[in-house]
Amino acid sequence: MSDETGSVSEAEIAVHWGEEAYFTPPESFVAQANLTDRDIRKRYSLENFPNYYEDFANLLSWDRKWDKLLDSSNPPFYKWFVGGRLNVSYNCIDRHLEKYRNKTAIHFVPEPENEHIEHVTYQELWVKVNEFAAFLRDKVGVKQGDRVTIHMPMVPELPVTMLALARLGAIHSVVFAGFSAKACAGRIVDSESRVLITMDGYYRAGTLLDHKEKADVACDEASAEGQKVETVLVWQRYPGRYSSPTPLKAGRDLVVNDELPAFRGKRVAPVSVPAEDPLFLMYTSGSTGRPKGAQHSTGGYLSYVTWTSKMIQDIHPDDVYWCMADIGWITGHSYIVYGPLALAASTVIYEGTPTYPDAGRPWRVAEELGVNIFHTSPTSIRALRKAGGGNPEKYNYHFKHMTTVGEPIEPDVWKWYHKVVGKGEAVIVDTWWQTENGGFLCSTVPAVDKMKPGSAGPPIPGIHPMILDEDGNRMPAGTGKAGNICIENPWPGMFQGIWHDPDRFVATYFTKYNKNPKSKDWRDWPYFAGDGAMLAADGYFRILGRIDDVINVAGHRLGTKELESAALTVAGVAEAAVVAAKDDIKGVMPEIYVSLQPGVEANAAMAKKVSDAVAKEIGPIARPRKVWLVPDLPKTRSGKIMRRILAAISNNNPDTGDITTLANPEMVEQIQKIHQAG
Ligand code: PRX
Repeated sequence: MSDETGSVSEAEIAVHWGEEAYFTPPESFVAQANLTDRDIRKRYSLENFPNYYEDFANLLSWDRKWDKLLDSSNPPFYKWFVGGRLNVSYNCIDRHLEKYRNKTAIHFVPEPENEHIEHVTYQELWVKVNEFAAFLRDKVGVKQGDRVTIHMPMVPELPVTMLALARLGAIHSVVFAGFSAKACAGRIVDSESRVLITMDGYYRAGTLLDHKEKADVACDEASAEGQKVETVLVWQRYPGRYSSPTPLKAGRDLVVNDELPAFRGKRVAPVSVPAEDPLFLMYTSGSTGRPKGAQHSTGGYLSYVTWTSKMIQDIHPDDVYWCMADIGWITGHSYIVYGPLALAASTVIYEGTPTYPDAGRPWRVAEELGVNIFHTSPTSIRALRKAGGGNPEKYNYHFKHMTTVGEPIEPDVWKWYHKVVGKGEAVIVDTWWQTENGGFLCSTVPAVDKMKPGSAGPPIPGIHPMILDEDGNRMPAGTGKAGNICIENPWPGMFQGIWHDPDRFVATYFTKYNKNPKSKDWRDWPYFAGDGAMLAADGYFRILGRIDDVINVAGHRLGTKELESAALTVAGVAEAAVVAAKDDIKGVMPEIYVSLQPGVEANAAMAKKVSDAVAKEIGPIARPRKVWLVPDLPKTRSGKIMRRILAAISNNNPDTGDITTLANPEMVEQIQKIHQAG
């Protein structure tokens, strides 16, 4: 938590709300649920570890069964389903054809409401994935093990692209479309991608954005850093019409929609890959340095997301499931694409902003498509509520199940979600997990456990979390004290490591609580999640937030150091410090305190330059709520910036703590005044 560096973590500014009464899952839900076994956690106890994970793998179709369920001989590097072989696109498409050929796999809802909703059947998805895979293999030369960066918005071509790459055994790295060209470049370089797949444009809040321009900048930046992108593949938002003002670059860019006709009717046999082959990289922010590439496996990952989609999301093949996250994040990978498709469900992909053109939009979509499982983040729920809620009661939809993910949800917001959006009929799961985890780690089992607003709940069956204090002692339940949440056992969805950086993997997630680095026993290697949490007497976990220099803005992870570096790119900026400030809609938002070089004028234009630099370097999601231009940053005598004090000011907390040891204590009052003046 806070330390001599003067940092303050998200967990420390978290609001500790009181214990809430339970809500019982509706009987109608329980009657149809996939998981009703009240003894499930007993069956999946540590004594039965790791054998219970067979149940997860048995949900998949394997080309070759594994010889060894778990190889834990070199912790914390684990190998799951060793010797097994499978293909992800086969599991998400081909195996469903016999029974579900004409069933919708993907409902694509374009943002403009006058555009036709596209329904892609499993058969059509199979054709599209085969043809695109043939093109990738035969024209672009993509082969097993290659890394390919994808920078695409929420369109059905995105899962088609991911599944085609998986069909070939290639590794995809999807970059959230809202991320900047620079962020995309960093990921191209780190993953050594020679192919970038993008789209000409997409809709966001009523505007057709030019997306292709980012590809050009990303390729230039990557090339300056030594990674040449040889081929850029551009999908068209409107097939047959190029919708970007940015020209194509001859010799490098290919328009996918122009190329595909040559591959009409081509089929590609799914490449049977070892369970341990990586399926994808997903970059995520850490406290220091560049975003790290969380490397996810094929067999372990797919088993884990399929089981949790079936048991926690309660997905049946005849469900229409809508997760409003973006596929560019882990939630979208696991719970828009891979989990739902592995279960032959119909998954909804919505292109745009949930409140566009008004807050009623999600409910019109739900009514039109018959959505019965709904999944979103507290930020979206708060935004919908603020926009008036859009009158869900006016629309004829019925959710049996709703999920919340990504940030703590206030009990009050939870109850609004339950009553207004869920019409009091839906069960809710509050799912806690991370990019690194592949799938859920804590949540109620919807037909088995009671819900408690404001609490993620008990562990997912098979997961064994604990709360450790700073010295590594296990903290008992019900003390009301916060500690660090850790997971005792490995699980199949857990990432295999950080791409090309095994030392950082061990140092970030395991060193803190490992007592013997030579130990070959997994019990000595608890996974340190980096979140503060409390364990209530009833065994429910409440997640408070990050304990490191990472802030979670609207459910998106941002490293404060990344924002500070972006601010420092502006000429005239001397120093910058980022803090997390509580926000009514987004949970927390970054605020930046900036001191300027001598002679540089502190004015609104300068503040805007800093704000724009952050949006440009990282993406609009990182744009600070406020840039405070201050004469100097509060510092210790050894020159450490005291972010803790700045965080107190940003959060209107009059208690700035002991400031007598500062080199410039007078700054505190000056900054408070600047803050009050707004
Ligand atoms: O702080 C926790 C918070 O989001 C972080 C993980 O962010 P990311 O890797 O981007 O993955 C987000 C979606 C899985 C965690 O370290 N977090 C996630 N879910 C919850 C949560 N905080 C409270 N409650 C949750 N349900």
